[in-house]
Amino acid sequence: MKKEFMELLTLAKEASVHAYSPYSGYKVGSAVLCKDGKTYSGCNVENASYSLTLCAERTAIFKAISEGEREFAAIAIFVDSDRAFPPCGACRQVISEFAPKIPVIYANQTETIETTMENLLPGAFHL
Ligand code: THU
Repeated sequence: MKKEFMELLTLAKEASVHAYSPYSGYKVGSAVLCKDGKTYSGCNVENASYSLTLCAERTAIFKAISEGEREFAAIAIFVDSDRAFPPCGACRQVISEFAPKIPVIYANQTETIETTMENLLPGAFHL
């Protein structure tokens, strides 16, 4: 895997430490690489009203967007769990809004998978 993707994954792993997940117990971190080279990371933030939970991927993307970024080169996701998980459907839609074809790297402590947004959300809805 490209060195820059491994570094992005390290940022995602570091962000997972900050997860606020007292309900599920899953600590998820994500990091996005922007085309200008900057990176933004985020964690999942849960709520007692469960459906208000924000996933790590959307935290990272929204942080980047709100700092003026619009173009992305890759996204990484790390979860401290017995299996790695790809972005949920809601996050796929949000990532696709800005970056319908970027590489997606997701991992846990033992496995790392590299795929693309095209593969994860074929036939995406865009206006
Ligand atoms: N979660 C993420 O942060 N990203 C995903 O793509 C899937 C799920 C979080 C939300 C919730 O805090 C916990 O993982 C379990 O669903």
